Amino acid sequence: MRRKPLIAGNWKMYKTKDDALAFIYAVNVEVPDKDVVESVICAPAIFLKDLVKREGENLRIGAQNMHYAEEGAYTGEISAAMLKSYGVDYVIVGHSERRAYFNETDETVNLKLISAVNVDITPIVCVGESLEIREAGTTNQVVKKQIEKAYLNVSAQDALKTVVAYEPIWAIGTGVTATPEQANETIIAIRSVIKKLYNEEVSEQIRILYGGSVNTKNVDSLLSMSDIDGALVGGASLDPNSFLTLVRAAL
Ligand code: G3P
Repeated sequence: MRRKPLIAGNWKMYKTKDDALAFIYAVNVEVPDKDVVESVICAPAIFLKDLVKREGENLRIGAQNMHYAEEGAYTGEISAAMLKSYGVDYVIVGHSERRAYFNETDETVNLKLISAVNVDITPIVCVGESLEIREAGTTNQVVKKQIEKAYLNVSAQDALKTVVAYEPIWAIGTGVTATPEQANETIIAIRSVIKKLYNEEVSEQIRILYGGSVNTKNVDSLLSMSDIDGALVGGASLDPNSFLTLVRAAL
């Protein structure tokens, strides 16, 4: 059974309001049918309301982060319920930049995953190894731990409502992509961890994306691999034509 591909753009901290709106107007009408490929833009929080208002039939809007608590005295933070109340459908959880610069841990990733699923937002759960770990040959063990901790106390039914993104840190924003074979191999390892945690049905149905210097030139070879179900894209998602090319590659 073929899993439905998903192409998610992660704009990170780029664009102003006018750029963001211009992108949405350009992409909205062109984006392919959501029943064939899911197209998502994960935008800075301040743009979410304007973008959701303008998203068309086939484009979905996601956030790049959220707090794990339902509500509370957390100045400056945004909850899953707040995102949901604005019509946000996806949220990136555990991106390596947040792990590195904003104290995201496997524990907060787990809590955020649970909070997102509870309000029917799809978490895109990021895992991935550093160059040091890749060179030491311990990638699979490290990624296994990240997955086990992220899915702690998560039922099989809820796990199916999530998406995993495998993003090797050494490939993010560096122009160095994991080879399709390397990416596929680690993603197969992730699927086997999920199979152990749950069962074959979950491991076969859950979607696992690759992220790290995906662009219009390498996307076809990455998406042609058996276990790569889509891409989480930074730099190459900023330009409307480039984003559309990536989405069309998944058709
Ligand atoms: O979340 C996407 C990401 O970290 C990859 O960024 O710019 O290498 O595509 P980039």
